[in-house]
Amino acid sequence: MLTITNIKRPGSNALETVTAENGVIKGWNLPPEGEVIDGQGGTVAPALIELHAHLREPGQTEKEDLASGLAAAAAGGYGTVVSMPNTSPVVDEPALVRALIEKAGGLGFARLKPAAALTKGQQGEQLAELAFLKEAGAAMFTDDGRTNENARVLRLGLEYARSLGMVVSVHAEDASLRADGVMHEGPVSEELGLPGNPAAAEAARVARDLEIVAQLCQHGGGARLHVQHLSTARALDLVREAKARGLPVTCEVCPHHLTLTDEALRSFDALYKVAPPLRTQADAEHLLAGLLDGTVDCLATDHAPHTRAEKERDLLEAPSGIAYIELAFPLMWTRFGERLGLEKLLDLMTQAPARVMGWHEPTLEPGAPADLVILDLDTEREVNPATFLSKAKFTPWAGETLRGWPTLTLVGGQVAYRRE
Ligand code: DOR
Ligand code: ZN
Repeated sequence: MLTITNIKRPGSNALETVTAENGVIKGWNLPPEGEVIDGQGGTVAPALIELHAHLREPGQTEKEDLASGLAAAAAGGYGTVVSMPNTSPVVDEPALVRALIEKAGGLGFARLKPAAALTKGQQGEQLAELAFLKEAGAAMFTDDGRTNENARVLRLGLEYARSLGMVVSVHAEDASLRADGVMHEGPVSEELGLPGNPAAAEAARVARDLEIVAQLCQHGGGARLHVQHLSTARALDLVREAKARGLPVTCEVCPHHLTLTDEALRSFDALYKVAPPLRTQADAEHLLAGLLDGTVDCLATDHAPHTRAEKERDLLEAPSGIAYIELAFPLMWTRFGERLGLEKLLDLMTQAPARVMGWHEPTLEPGAPADLVILDLDTEREVNPATFLSKAKFTPWAGETLRGWPTLTLVGGQVAYRRE
């Protein structure tokens, strides 16, 4: 039993009390029972849900592991994380899915819902054993980290996943157009003399994948395609059109594509190297408009930790990825809180990801899982990567002043994170 006092529900100024028992919300404003935690006037919401994080286990634990990644997620206010399968080995076998779930369950941080590979070894040629992977607990299928070059294999994967009621997520970039681009192709890449990755690489791939979905829809309905980390205005417009036609497609946008642009690469710092790359301010604004008009279904971070040594290599050699699961909410709230409003922002990070996955939408009602976050919406704090629980203790936003820091995260009624 656990009681949190002095908290506000979104949209209300009343100070209330919530009690959790046996992993669920027992009720509101009951007499305090069990351990009592003072919420200090913070705002309570269902814990955030992350559909896209690289936790690097198995095999790449110098970058991150389940414990550090899920602790970092809880510190970021997340109660549930979908981990990407581009590990070593690739998560393409039921035993690997089971091992991850078992290990994460004992940690007491965010809940883990591992994604499994769509194809064996994420090689894009042979489908993985999707039914057995689902049975083992895989949450979705994706070859993220790689692209699905073989369109027929993707088609077959969508058909197979449809029969299982599962979502297929895609990293949508045409590999041949992307080539060896290390940043967005445009005036900045030309000026810097760096190989560019054109917007067309993403748009062309999204167009292809949407055609496959449209085709499958004519043959018996909904193959569920989720487009990951959409970065360009053009690709977003394609998704908007597809949705208007009623196609079963969803998409996510990452805070880094909303807050950073290709201008950051003028530093020649691989901290800013990410795939798909940071685009233009016009793209970022278009993506934000897509959040507001509902074309973008949800936010996801694509938390992609690498070692500092790897990210200190030059731009051509360094791996892609930005890790910031601990500051995604404060970043979004500080930069876009006024334009989005609290309820929309929370929806994009909690209920909306659940809808994408077909999960029960989290609520604050009695009987709902006691996966909760308390957010301090007002106090400004500087981003100090040295305090990150993630192994990647560096970030593009170091030193920035942000508001909206989580102070407490409960998962199943247990404290998964509490700010000192
Ligand atoms: O920037 C990225 N990093 N994009 C990806 O698709 C993969 C990810 C990683 O695994 O580091
Ligand atoms: Zn990706």
